[in-house]
Amino acid sequence: MQAFVCLICGDAYIGEAPPTHCPFCGAPKNYFVVAEAYRAPEIGKIGETSKQNILASIKLEDSNAEFYACSSVSSKNPGMRAIFKRLSKVEREHATILRKLVGADEDSVIETCGEKDEDNVKAAIAREERAMASYSKFLSEATEPRAKQIFKALIEIENTHKELLGSMKR
Ligand SMILES: [Fe+2]
Ligand SMILES: [Fe+2]
Repeated sequence: MQAFVCLICGDAYIGEAPPTHCPFCGAPKNYFVVAEAYRAPEIGKIGETSKQNILASIKLEDSNAEFYACSSVSSKNPGMRAIFKRLSKVEREHATILRKLVGADEDSVIETCGEKDEDNVKAAIAREERAMASYSKFLSEATEPRAKQIFKALIEIENTHKELLGSMKR
């Protein structure tokens, strides 16, 4: 057994090998390093453009986390409940990662969702697409290495969510 640390969320995974995706933030395997080699990322100064973009991203992540939590509670299907619950926690983690960049405080957000899994899956795909489009724009506007690294990883992660949800539609 060994410990591996995720460069995006900083959490450790203990196992024989790094997971294909971080269980906490969803980052793919290539973001893992062996624990001994891990150094906490330098955040450095965040410029005004990225600051505003990061604050907008936190809003998106908080809203998506609440939407998934609502979808999980609404679902009557145990598998869907589990998936929505995990997605909610991953999006919550994204908000936490982004808050660390700008030292933002916790907000309480309330979000509604539909009653049927089918409708929530559709709405979730649209939410993931909206997040990816925003993060692509924010990535192109960012100059700070840590902000760029996070936006790039978030685009990859939200895309895996979109793929997972897409496979659920059929
Ligand atoms: Fe992670
Ligand atoms: Fe996210």
